[in-house]
Parts: sequence; C-alpha cells; structure tokens
Amino acid sequence: VSEKTGRITGTLALSVFTAVLGSLQFGYNIGVINAPQKIIEQDYNSTWRERYSEPIPPQTLTSLWSLSVAIFSIGGMVSSFSVGILSEYFGRRKAMLINNVLAFIGGGLMGMSKISRSFEMMILGRFTIGAYCGLVSGLVPMYVGEIAPTTLRGALGTLHQLAIVTGILMAQILGLESLLGSEQLWPVLLGVTVLPTVLQMTLLPFCPESPRFLYIIRCQEHHAKTLRRLTGRLEVSEDLAEMKEEKRKMDMERKASIAELFRSPMYQQPIIISILLQLSQQLSGINAIFYYSTDIFKKAGVENPVYATIGAGAVNCAFTIVSLFLVERMGRRTLHMLGLAGMCICAIIMTTALTLLETVPSMSYLSMMAIFGFVAFFEVGPGPIPWFFVAELFSQGPRPAAMAVAGCSNWTANFLIGMGFQYVANLCGPYVFLIFALLLLLFLVFTFFRVPETRGKTFDQISATFHNHPQNMMDMDQGKHSTELDYLGSDGTEN
Ligand code: GLC
Repeated sequence: VSEKTGRITGTLALSVFTAVLGSLQFGYNIGVINAPQKIIEQDYNSTWRERYSEPIPPQTLTSLWSLSVAIFSIGGMVSSFSVGILSEYFGRRKAMLINNVLAFIGGGLMGMSKISRSFEMMILGRFTIGAYCGLVSGLVPMYVGEIAPTTLRGALGTLHQLAIVTGILMAQILGLESLLGSEQLWPVLLGVTVLPTVLQMTLLPFCPESPRFLYIIRCQEHHAKTLRRLTGRLEVSEDLAEMKEEKRKMDMERKASIAELFRSPMYQQPIIISILLQLSQQLSGINAIFYYSTDIFKKAGVENPVYATIGAGAVNCAFTIVSLFLVERMGRRTLHMLGLAGMCICAIIMTTALTLLETVPSMSYLSMMAIFGFVAFFEVGPGPIPWFFVAELFSQGPRPAAMAVAGCSNWTANFLIGMGFQYVANLCGPYVFLIFALLLLLFLVFTFFRVPETRGKTFDQISATFHNHPQNMMDMDQGKHSTELDYLGSDGTEN
C-alpha cells in the first residue's frame, strides 16, 4: 500500500460529497422531531377535535407522539435488511438514486400532513423517511468504503458520520420556534428534507459506480477507466492486481448469504464483531441524549435546555471532525476504546452530579459538562467507526449481507433506546446512566480482546486475517488468543 494511493481527486470528492448528502438527511430526521414536539401535538389535538368533537385523551396523544417518533427506527430496521439485495441488484450508485423516491414520499407526506389534517400521514411519512435512512446507513458507508483509497478509507468513512451530525445540528437550529419550529412553519421544517435529495439526484449521474463492484461482482472491464477517474492516475495496475486477487479468492468461496455469515467459520468472527460494534454505538446511550436532551437538561437544572441541546449538537460536530483527523493516525481500535472509556467516565460523573443536585445546586453545571463530554467521546470513536468498520471487515462477496445484518442490529438497538429510555429513566431516576456505564465497560473489554486494527490494510489483507485463523486453531490452542488478536499488528503497513 503506497502513499500514492491516497490522493483526493475531484471525482472522489464529488462522489463522497454526493453520497453523504443521504447521511445529512439521516441526521436531519433524527434531530428534527425533538424541538417542535409540543407544537405538532397541538395539531394532533385539533385534528382529533375536528373528527370526534372532543379533545384528544392524554394517553392517546402520548401514544400517537411516541409512535411518530419511534416508527422512524422501525422503517430503518425493515429497510436496512434489504441493503444487500438492492446494492447487488442495482449496484451501489443506482440503489442510492432509487432510494431517493422514499425521501420524496416521506418528506411529502410529513410536509402535507398539516394541511391534510391527518396525523396518519405524518406517521406514515416518518416510517417512509426512516426506511430511506435505513438504506442510507448501509449504502453510503459501503459505496464510500469501496471507492476510497486504502490510506484514506477511515477518514472518508467518517464523513458519513460528519454529515449525520451536521444534519442533526441543522435540524436543532432550524427547529427553533423563531425559525421553522413554529405553528405555521413546522410542515416546512419536516418537508425541507427533500432539498438535499434533489441535489443528490442532480449530482449522482456524474459520480462513478464503485469499481470494485463493477469488476469483482459484475465482471465488467471498464472498471479500470473508473479507477483512473477516481485516483487521477493513469497507472492503476497495483490497484487492479489487488482487486483481481480479491476476486480470485471470492470465486473460490461459497455464496455469502446472511445465513452463511453465521454458519461459516470464516465469517463468524467478523460478523459478531460487526454486530457488537453497532450495539456499542447504540447501547452507549447516545440517543437518550439526542432524543430526550431537552428533558434531561431540564432535570439537571440547566437554565436554557433548548440552547444546551444545540450546544450538545455543536460539540457533536466538533469532535467528529477531531476523529476525522485522528482515525488514520491512531487507528480504529484505539479511538473506539478511548471513546468508550471516556463515555463511561462521563456517565459516572453525570450520575454523581445528578444525585448531588438537591444539595449542591452548582452540580447542574457539572452535569451539563459531563453530558457534553459524553457526546464528545462518542464522536471520537463509537459514533463514526462502527459505520465504516463493517465495510472494512468484509471482502466484496459477503459485504452487502454483512452491511444488512449490522445495519439492522443498529436500528433495532436504536428503536429499543428510543422506546425504552423514558420508562427506565422514570424507574431509575438519576441512576439511569449507570446502566449505560456498565454496558460501555463491557463493550470496552470486548473491543480490547476481539476487535482488530484495520488501518492501512487492503480489504484482502483484512479478510485474510480471519481466513488464516480458522476455528480449529483457536480450539487447538486456547492460550494463543492474544496472538490471534494481534493478527493485524498495530503499526499499520505504510511504507
Ligand atoms: C450515529 C448514530 C445515531 C446517532 C448519531 C449521533 O450516527 O447511528 O443513531 O443519533 O450518531 O451523532
């Protein structure tokens, strides 16, 4: 792997930018529902009055609202599972293009729900846009991972997360009542999600299809031309040789279906790592903050909870940028562990501060700082890394199926936190974040013992590490675990 592979050409920049416009919408729709809750609820209420000539029962309103929020992740769960099939059948680029249909339908339904006096349309719209985001969460990291040069795969992969957090922040700001979060304008707030869609549809035709997909899966020869466009070099024989080798190995493998991922000893380890990394991202409790921050800040005695929420969004963006610059230097493993450990400590500080709040009022300041720290450490590792790491762990054949499984685990955990957090928080009071602290600790231990470093390795080198360590080696020599985990070394391979 030579330095010369790591150049960012115009075509590469355009392709990555275009792809992550989808991630921007993913983030936007995570963040958008937080601020205008009360205002949209009023509309649900007036619709109910019109239909049934009585105010909506509070229980019904709570259920309808929870459904409007959570059905987004159900949409994601359902669609992320079809990432594999779509990306193989249409190719990565066309699948992204077709996915935009969902964004139009979802954005349209949400934007029109007020004038149509229909909360059903709003709920259906949230489901559809969730389905759109589910596909984004698989297609974008896969496409970016496949077109990125080896030495920049992590940094470019982090742009998916950077676009997500930018989307969250944009939604938080636009959602202010003085901007679009008002009684009249909330449909616009929800509907503008189609703007990046239009831009993406305009730009996608100028982006190349993933050359790895063209060559390894479709066996098409014009991949070399695409590679030249992406790398800006005429001489691409080194890259071609690497892809050829990957193809040769893939042709010898059995077809990698989802079931096969769990059955074959070759894929078992990487798929378990992929799932656990996704779970570490969601069960870290990050979305407890992003879905309920205003409430959490209020309970912590923070004076301006809405602005504190925007503060959290800004910290979120800033530290994703930090990670972008660190990921090719410090590696994925180190950053992920650093992030989990930092989050764990912040969760403990937050709990301590919240328990002392009654007696020491200045603790509200400390708990706010702890929440900001929690978010910052999340973006150092657990935010960006799981998304692109799955694409790195698998070679071309099993990658789509693996992305589907990993994405679906992520969305399921996302749904559980979205639905369950408030109940658990009511039960545990200020101690609720200790549950996350414990989970974070477990994921930290897992990462330390099981997650390899992938920085600077080609896909072929990465998957070879799992191939060369078949199950029987582990069974024969349990004591060799640590060597087995060192398989990728930690010093990268740059030369
Ligand atoms: C990641 C998570 C998403 C979360 C976001 C916060 O992208 O997948 O659920 O809301 O980070 O920045």
